[in-house]
Amino acid sequence: MSWGLENRLSKIIRPDTGRTVMFAVDHGYFLGPTSGLEKPAEAVVPLAPYADTLMLTRGVLRQCIPSTVQTPIVLRVSGGNSVLEDDLSDETLMTSVEECLRLNAVGMALSIYVGAPHQHQTLKNLGKLVGKGERYGMPVIAVTAVGKALGQEITRDARYLALASRIAAEFGAHIVKTYYCEDFERVTGTCPVPIVMAGGKKLPERDALVLTKNAIDGGAVGVDMGRNIFQSDSPLGMMKAVSAIVHKGIGVDDAYAVYEDEKRAGRGGAGGGDAGASPAGAGGPGAGEAGGQAGASGPGFGDDRKL
Ligand code: 5RP
Repeated sequence: MSWGLENRLSKIIRPDTGRTVMFAVDHGYFLGPTSGLEKPAEAVVPLAPYADTLMLTRGVLRQCIPSTVQTPIVLRVSGGNSVLEDDLSDETLMTSVEECLRLNAVGMALSIYVGAPHQHQTLKNLGKLVGKGERYGMPVIAVTAVGKALGQEITRDARYLALASRIAAEFGAHIVKTYYCEDFERVTGTCPVPIVMAGGKKLPERDALVLTKNAIDGGAVGVDMGRNIFQSDSPLGMMKAVSAIVHKGIGVDDAYAVYEDEKRAGRGGAGGGDAGASPAGAGGPGAGEAGGQAGASGPGFGDDRKL
């Protein structure tokens, strides 16, 4: 592995803890103005110092994030679909490695859709990106995306997630981002590169912290989490609580207290889409689906079930 690639990886996974809290705010690449991210600058900039990396698209980076922000950047480079399509797997590489270098990114993220109609194409995207990325010392994070075509049961199954994660590693991904599932150790234990957990739909805060703890205990090196932070009623509280679990190894009760303290102090951060503020996360209308997405009243189409 080249010095540059290792150096960039060390800006994603902290050498002092061997762990990472990546803040995923790339949802707009096919969802448009997702609840909680309508104004990316307001939602992301105040939280950036507390995250180890920001994962986002080049457009949001260039337009909404000041170039003085010091948090390392991972760019989402695949896409080409919108939530209006049935098949989300028809992705291509939208942002070049040269552009990632120009923007001083420390990594590139793309989705692979194992078992979906465009599986082959997305795996070819991965192979190409790893080849080009390694030429320039740029790590690749493969996201095991599921899309609409695959049922929830199979895609939350350890056999499926182990298959998708292992395939990503076989083609050279340096980090794999995947979902938590029962028997998660089977996924982390058979993937030869570090795994970060995607947060998934908005949950009640304590449940999201339990998920984080379970993922870390199950062998993940960290999280690449979005909605459970920026849709919380205290995004900063959740960021700090998740980070304390990941980097300090604290338990769920202590982490929940960190979240509550921030919330009480009113330093919640700028996000807090309606999902977290309403009881939706606790079983209300959005809980099992879009996590309290804005839906009809919001600015976007709000269907983030396939993330
Ligand atoms: C989608 C992604 C998203 O960044 C990610 O899934 C969003 O994070 P979260 O699920 O925690 O909102 O990579 O393929």
